[in-house]
Amino acid sequence: MTRKSPAPQVHIETFGCQMNESDSELVRSMLKREGFTFTEDRERADVVLVNTCAIRENAHNKIYARLSELKGLKKQRPLVVGVLGCMAQNLKDELTEKEPLVDVLAGPDAYRQLPLLLSTALASQEQGFSKKGFALDLSEYETYDGILPDRNSGVNAWVTVMRGCDNFCSFCVVPYTRGRERSRDPEAIRLEARDAAAGGFRQITLLGQNVNSYRYGEWDFARLICAVADTPGIDRVRFTSPHPKDFPPALIEAIAAHPKICKHIHLPLQAGSDRILDLMGRTYTGNEYLALVERIRRTLPDVVLTTDIICGFCSESDDDFQDTYRMVERVQFDSAYIFKYSERKNTIAARKYVDDVPDHVKGARVSKLVEIQRRITLERNLKYIGKDVEVLIEREATRSSTQGMGKTNGNVTVVWDKGTSLFEPGTLITKRIFDASAATLYGE
Ligand code: SAH
Ligand code: SF4
Ligand code: F3S
Repeated sequence: MTRKSPAPQVHIETFGCQMNESDSELVRSMLKREGFTFTEDRERADVVLVNTCAIRENAHNKIYARLSELKGLKKQRPLVVGVLGCMAQNLKDELTEKEPLVDVLAGPDAYRQLPLLLSTALASQEQGFSKKGFALDLSEYETYDGILPDRNSGVNAWVTVMRGCDNFCSFCVVPYTRGRERSRDPEAIRLEARDAAAGGFRQITLLGQNVNSYRYGEWDFARLICAVADTPGIDRVRFTSPHPKDFPPALIEAIAAHPKICKHIHLPLQAGSDRILDLMGRTYTGNEYLALVERIRRTLPDVVLTTDIICGFCSESDDDFQDTYRMVERVQFDSAYIFKYSERKNTIAARKYVDDVPDHVKGARVSKLVEIQRRITLERNLKYIGKDVEVLIEREATRSSTQGMGKTNGNVTVVWDKGTSLFEPGTLITKRIFDASAATLYGE
């Protein structure tokens, strides 16, 4: 069997967080430079790359389901399958021993090796044998400076400001899959911001597992975000995520002072019980979290606050859960991602504690929180009715091409009938809100 085209065609599919989205854009850039082309159509691809996530068991399950589909494809024709990202890093043995399907594995710090690994795998396949290649070294230095990402189209450009994580929250696999924390050179970051603006992007989202640990010489995150927000052509700058343990007043003030920095803070709470927070290794108490929220709201009264919460962590009692529930009532988040605790191999929690909350109890707790948060989100969204909001137009609404979709400064979704008015993704417009649901504001 011979290949149809001389330049190998690659299809890449990305799971997990924005960091993976951003990494896939880097991978595309590095591969294109070496003569690979890309296709949206998996059926036509010579190489299928799956950029994976390992954060919870269901993330794994989704990826295994995808791999088993690829098995079918690979029986019909020559195909090189590469697994990238956090699961590749974490499940090396499982993926190499149990999955003969996988030809190439590359972890988040090893993407510079991908062009060579893929070329070798393709060449060996053409000669009728299979040479597998694995690149799984984590690095203390790799920040991919010098490689401008090949971005997905849209209004938003991801810009990674730091890689890895040194926090070792006891439930979390990220420090093992992405290695040690390191900050990127601010000059490389500003260059990327200018490149994004030149490419027509209107919004930049700065990414890091804990942006407030950003340090580079004299630079901290507050200084960095202001410098990025000064990029000509950029209308909005967002960031994710800060850790509540170290949110400096200077960052709150920077957000307040700079008109282009969005008034939206995603501040993962994880739990409301001090005992559970301590077991999680989060290093703040419920009261400290509340005090931070108060400080933020004092300076930024209209801030949109969102969060992440885990239900059913090891030994979480009904009382502990009630603490979380009360905290959610008290803070009044604009929205929240709520997860069942999922034990991850090799984490501190997996080694030291017992995953002893039954699955149905985890599920019931998630449902309770989802329900109360839905109510709070709706109440908060209803307050927009009658007000004018500034919207960055993103695209046509998913449900109907006669409607436009965009986001407020606080990242709340707005939908409106396009009618005959100007509809140009990437522009800022003002919309008066006349109705709201828990998911959407409706503009006139
Ligand atoms: N660095 C980010 C979190 C990245 S992971 C931060 O600290 O803010 C995104 C979210 O996934 C976390 O905030 C947490 O709520 C959730 N998460 C992480 N590990 C998990 C696990 N083992 N089980 C369930 N949820 C988990
Ligand atoms: Fe995971 Fe904690 Fe690091 Fe976030 S800060 S990535 S939750 S270890
Ligand atoms: Fe992101 Fe999943 Fe890795 S959330 S950092 S892709 S484990």
